[in-house]
Amino acid sequence: LQRYSQENLAENTKPFKEQDAWEEHQMGKAALKYGSENKKQISNNYQFVFEDQIDFIDPSVIDGDKFDHQEMVIEKKTSKSVLEILQDERKTLPIYLYRDELLRAVENHQVLVIVGETGSGKTTQVPQYLHEAGYTKRGKVGCTQPRRVAAMSVAARVSQEMGVKIGREVGYSIRFEDNTSEKTVVEYMTDGMLLRNIISQPNLSSYSVIMVDEAHERTLSTDILLGLLKDLIKYRPDPKVLISSATLDAEKLSNYFDLAPIFKIPGRRYPVEVHYTTVPESEYIDAAIVTVLQIHVTQAPGDILVFLTGQEEIETTKEILNHRIRGLGGKIAELIICPLYANLPIELQTKIFEPTPEGARKVVLATNIAETSLTIDGIKYVVDPGFVKVKSYNPSTEVESLLVSPISKALANQRAGRSGRTGPGKCFRLYTLDSYQMEMDDNTVPEIQRTNLANVVLILKSLGIDDLVNFDFIDPPAAESLIKALELLFALGALNKFGELTKVGRRMAEFPLDPMLSKMIIASDKYRCSDEIITIAAMLSVGNSIFYRPKEKQVHADNARMNFHSGNVGDHIALLRVYNSWRECNYSKQWCYDNYVQVRSMKRARDIRDQLERLLKRVEIEIASNVNDLNAINKAITSGFFPHSARLQKDGSYLTIKHPQTARIHPSSGLAQVLPRPRWVIYHELVLTTKGYMRQVTELKPELHIITS
Ligand code: CDP
Ligand code: MG
Repeated sequence: LQRYSQENLAENTKPFKEQDAWEEHQMGKAALKYGSENKKQISNNYQFVFEDQIDFIDPSVIDGDKFDHQEMVIEKKTSKSVLEILQDERKTLPIYLYRDELLRAVENHQVLVIVGETGSGKTTQVPQYLHEAGYTKRGKVGCTQPRRVAAMSVAARVSQEMGVKIGREVGYSIRFEDNTSEKTVVEYMTDGMLLRNIISQPNLSSYSVIMVDEAHERTLSTDILLGLLKDLIKYRPDPKVLISSATLDAEKLSNYFDLAPIFKIPGRRYPVEVHYTTVPESEYIDAAIVTVLQIHVTQAPGDILVFLTGQEEIETTKEILNHRIRGLGGKIAELIICPLYANLPIELQTKIFEPTPEGARKVVLATNIAETSLTIDGIKYVVDPGFVKVKSYNPSTEVESLLVSPISKALANQRAGRSGRTGPGKCFRLYTLDSYQMEMDDNTVPEIQRTNLANVVLILKSLGIDDLVNFDFIDPPAAESLIKALELLFALGALNKFGELTKVGRRMAEFPLDPMLSKMIIASDKYRCSDEIITIAAMLSVGNSIFYRPKEKQVHADNARMNFHSGNVGDHIALLRVYNSWRECNYSKQWCYDNYVQVRSMKRARDIRDQLERLLKRVEIEIASNVNDLNAINKAITSGFFPHSARLQKDGSYLTIKHPQTARIHPSSGLAQVLPRPRWVIYHELVLTTKGYMRQVTELKPELHIITS
């Protein structure tokens, strides 16, 4: 056990030639970027700029090996092609020194746990090494990522490094988007995608290597995949299984795979000074903005990474920051603001990786994507408000909610470490040392213990895994969550009273959707409205980003939106009308602008719809259109969403029926202002913030919508 880690460790502690060379190179790179010449940009305007400065207490230093920082100058070589430059860059990554040793370890073991600091090259290099060593002659190298953005951006990077077009030899597949071809040998995909692939390909026979990357994130799909792979290797001795993780929890992963060896890639981390605020910050966004500006005008060159909780928060912060900078009217050096979140269009994603121009500074406003999945070079300062948006699920009320919660100590340290990759860094924590020590948990709870399991149970059942209680989970879910999932699937008709998968269940499992949505689609066959229902399913899957509402034109935008609601048909039918009108106008962009509808969301809905249409063929449902029979459409919706019904109360609020919970119709719903309020409604989702809000609501008419299943 851990032979490799010991060997690595030994090598890491004795200084040896290549490592020094590597360090020199890294420092050379750092010196190029943070060269001494552009210090002039630091003005001393800042006293009158920020009266609301934030006080940080004296720093503590974490993690760094001690070393002398010397500035080195290396000559820029310009005669090289992009491919050559990228090849050189590959050789500067920490993992490069261990290439051969790693390949030997893979050769000798079926399962290997690979551990290495974020940015050491695991994700981008390991699949390439395996390809170069010939593994791809026997099958693809598949590498899973917990996040879509990471899968796409890493595939883009690796295809550049290999000098091929993305989608050919190197591709990615994420839900509703398959960017691979017959030529693909290295495939990046979301963990959820590989999980779905197992349904159609239980042996995963087209893969020679499966790399479960970012395993420390412990997403639901990763956990289930690990369980299935553990089982798979019992009867398929050939595929290699690599599990890679950013230091945390490696032993646990190794133990789970019957003491699989751990291969450690020694990282080089530079010291990071950690500053805490002296008093708790009540407004962390504001505190983050002030801190960014403080860093910008007082600190040496180097880019800034700010961790925020979601898209909306990031966009708001960007706006305020821009506004503040404009207010300073050219008195400070250029600050380039780059947002980074899951739904960011790909063209903007690449901007993040572009080197910062001389004299300017980049500030990346990111969600937790930037914690481990994506590494941005040149970050020297991290601003950490200490929050993350996490999904939590309460099995007794069956309500799932996304809540902004404090991060764990492990994540706080991971975030801080992002500043010390290419040189010494600084991390500004917008919380006190006390709250770090006393209030933060050590580790994050794995997703399997805080989520709704209906989808996963359906997948496992369709793989023939019936005994879920004895399934070998790394960390088992709460029994109550499992029972609720079984109950729901039974109510939807996916399982029979013995808990066995029914024909309906088997067909539902074909759809990469929540079971209630899949059921709605299966039911549409009976009501002859599959055409409309897959449109509605696609529009619902896009999320709440169909309409936009610019500040200066809110009234116009609201009027445009309400046009689709005429007759108070409910939000589902309104979504259908939006899509159909767009389709009638030949999917026109202008139509979207005129109606305050987001082009990008509509395109995505169209892609999803196309896929659902293909899946309909797989389950042998004919495309049938019944656009004028709103009752038929509502019946199909009800077949899937009856567990989400709610009844009007005297005070105008609603009570959900299954686990009584007070909720209101979300203000964005077309039914929000309708009086008298409908007596019964069904909703797509319940959002819990301070109050419960139902989103995407349709009136339920019990006398009309009686369904039989
Ligand atoms: O997986 P791990 O965190 O060990 O490292 P990686 O993601 O393979 O990153 C290795 C290097 O590739 C880093 O220096 C990144 O900056 C770079 N990279 C990039 O430039 N663009 C990407 N889309 C992904 C990685
Ligand atoms: Mg990685």
